[in-house]
Amino acid sequence: MTEFIGYPIWWGGAAWLANHFVTDRDFISKKVILFAASSSSPLGSSGSDLATMIGTGDWQEGQRLSSNASAGEVLSWVESLDL
Ligand SMILES: Cc1cc2nc3c(=O)[nH]c(=O)nc-3n(C[C@H](O)[C@H](O)[C@H](O)COP(=O)(O)O)c2cc1C
Repeated sequence: MTEFIGYPIWWGGAAWLANHFVTDRDFISKKVILFAASSSSPLGSSGSDLATMIGTGDWQEGQRLSSNASAGEVLSWVESLDL
């Protein structure tokens, strides 16, 4: 099973809301695809920080999207994943 986890970047990292969301979930045997929106900051270590905190799941390298990304940009990224 594949799960998408999205969050806004706050202060250069994943918004604390994302920490709460992932902590309550089980990622055993799941592929996790991250995406984050930000005004300008890169994804940085936000995804690997979440993966390390959880310790289960096959966490893929994430994608940073602009906070004003269009539906078309998001769709084109999802299609590029070749799922
Ligand atoms: C508390 C707070 C901290 C933020 N910190 C960053 C940041 O460090 N870098 C950045 O590029 N954007 C930052 N942002 C912008 C958010 O990433 C942006 O609001 C989010 O991607 C959602 O976009 P929207 O506000 O246009 O809906 C911050 C926003 C908030 C509310």
